[in-house]
Amino acid sequence: MNFLVTGGAGFIGSAVCRHLCANPAYRVTNLDKLTYAGNLASLRPIENAHNYRFAHADICDERAVLDILRRDDIDIVMNLAAESHVDRSIDGPGTFIETNIVGTYRILNSALEYWRGLPEERKSRFRFHHVSTDEVFGDLPFDGGMFVEETPYAPSSPYSASKAASDHLVRAWHETYGLPVVLSNCSNNYGPYHFPEKLIPLVILNALDEKPLPVYGAGANVRDWLFVEDHARALELVATKGTPGESYNVGGNSERTNLSVVETICDLLDIRRPRAGGKSYRDLISFVTDRPGHDRRYAIDASKIGRDLGWAPNENFDSGLARTVDWFLDNKWWWGPIREQHYAGERLGEARKGVA
Ligand code: NAD
Ligand code: DAU
Repeated sequence: MNFLVTGGAGFIGSAVCRHLCANPAYRVTNLDKLTYAGNLASLRPIENAHNYRFAHADICDERAVLDILRRDDIDIVMNLAAESHVDRSIDGPGTFIETNIVGTYRILNSALEYWRGLPEERKSRFRFHHVSTDEVFGDLPFDGGMFVEETPYAPSSPYSASKAASDHLVRAWHETYGLPVVLSNCSNNYGPYHFPEKLIPLVILNALDEKPLPVYGAGANVRDWLFVEDHARALELVATKGTPGESYNVGGNSERTNLSVVETICDLLDIRRPRAGGKSYRDLISFVTDRPGHDRRYAIDASKIGRDLGWAPNENFDSGLARTVDWFLDNKWWWGPIREQHYAGERLGEARKGVA
């Protein structure tokens, strides 16, 4: 079976490529534009695998994508390419509109033209899997409720609005043109190779650098955390066994306040890499102005994917976070150049600065 993974040089996409390539019956093409978030170093474990290849391309380039689909005889497209950071979408929504909305429209066009030309047997097996987020459902109150597949969309940020728009386009291409699509909406991922603009890797690396650990507002916002390798397994199931036209919620059943996440990282580092002078890393916690439009709480009801596709996470939050902290301690070769050359941890998305 031949997969095209878009955004495969990013955090989740690289986990998907590493996971799929472990199966010798699969061939994986990773199509990535290599934006600031794309990093071929994340593919190092598979870069010489017989069943892996990289294609440097933009999902907005319909002709290039079509050529790759035909060249590599693709059976399943897994579309992860996106701008993914909420704070960057506040500072500059333009690239989010371009990649997440226009890019999804363009890759749908490429996929449709390719799919229409397939012989009947391969046509019925083809899937376009769009990888989306729980943020499309918007803001949950602190005291209850969970996102199910039928929850109405109510995005709050330019990022989540652009992902919501892309989900609607994917469904429309199924209803209108018959393209066999599946969708998944997942909660917050964490784990190895996570770009250090996101909360967990940012806090680990700021702590190691003895820099302040920025907690937005009072740190009371709640996220539902999932270890990235569990998400990769879920995505394989959705892509290969999901029912066309359906969506699947994926989540870790691990709700935590941001403050408790940061404190847990500090406690892990206190044991693994004690600070000179003996103080706790908790002393570096710094409460800063809140994110505009900050959703209070996300929580995923993942019972459908468990029931229909037999998925459950392997890691709980404590085991997954310990693995993640250990990975960052052991892999400075990966994150050192990012912190030095691309992003040193400065505050993003603090206030509206106009549109890109
Ligand atoms: P990421 O920012 O780490 O990686 C995105 C990748 O897409 C990068 O490699 C980048 O170079 C590539 N890319 C960007 N624009 C492109 C374009 N026009 N053409 C080709 N490639 C392009 O993102 P991530 O955290 O790995 O998220 C991947 C997907 O999963 C996104 O669609 C995101 O919305 C979704 N998602 C993320 C999370 C999460 O917690 N990170 C949770 C649920 C869903
Ligand atoms: O829910 C899925 C989403 O999770 C994905 O769709 C997004 O691509 C992904 O980036 C993530 O979005 P969040 O905004 O939830 O993740 P982030 O790591 O940016 O922030 C997590 C929480 O921590 C959020 O409530 C904001 C807060 N935060 C974040 C940063 C970067 C802080 O308190 N301090 C920080 O410095």
